[in-house]
Amino acid sequence: MKIYKAKDYADMSRKAANIISAQIIMKPECVLGLATGSTPVGLYKQLVEWYKKGDLDFSAVKTVNLDEYKGLSQDNDQSYYYFMHKNLFDNVNISVENTHIPNGMEQDSEKECNRYSELIKSLGGIDLQLLGIGHNGHIGFNEPSDSFEKQVHCVDLTESTIEANKRFFESAEDVPRQAYTMGIKTIMQAKKILVVASGEDKAQIVKEAFFGHITPYVPASVLQLHNDVTLVADEAALSKI
Ligand code: GLP
Repeated sequence: MKIYKAKDYADMSRKAANIISAQIIMKPECVLGLATGSTPVGLYKQLVEWYKKGDLDFSAVKTVNLDEYKGLSQDNDQSYYYFMHKNLFDNVNISVENTHIPNGMEQDSEKECNRYSELIKSLGGIDLQLLGIGHNGHIGFNEPSDSFEKQVHCVDLTESTIEANKRFFESAEDVPRQAYTMGIKTIMQAKKILVVASGEDKAQIVKEAFFGHITPYVPASVLQLHNDVTLVADEAALSKI
């Protein structure tokens, strides 16, 4: 695993955006696995800035997002569809048909999970998967549990995730209770993985995930088994290492 220590959030965002840019430049038709949450917002902003300067071309890029809340429509401002359009897709020259996110409005979980798994396969796999990390070690929405879920699946969100994500909603009651997410195997099959982490509140979980035991109780710990993982984190997030 490579670890890049950034000074602060802005530096972390720039370094991570550089890695994604290099991927796009080296393989213009790459498949990027994308993530939501507050951590990647700065890096998406940086990518948009470089695109506007003429330094990046998204016309052949394909994207596949990690997860989506079940029950939120595309126009709900808390859906990951809305987030991705606002933070990246609407601001660069990517074609909408090349962007993929689980369909939160599909009530039939089995159908949606099969559709999304097949779609990822049909893209030929993910070249670079971007990941944030939840306070409980979740990646995508793979919550701590007794075993690693392999494929795209529908999860019941844990109380701690509902608590952590309620800041984006009017109240905790408004946070959806379920989500569709890529499974651990789906994530681990990406050729390269880029993890971003920022802030002191992530320091403990960064330590457990990257230097602790590999266990499904800390889903991100499985990344220790991948042979091309890069962690870009700021000093605060690395303060316990
Ligand atoms: C959500 C997302 C994750 C993300 C996590 C951390 O639950 N499903 O993909 O990594 O939040 O979010 P933040 O970056 O806001 O701490």
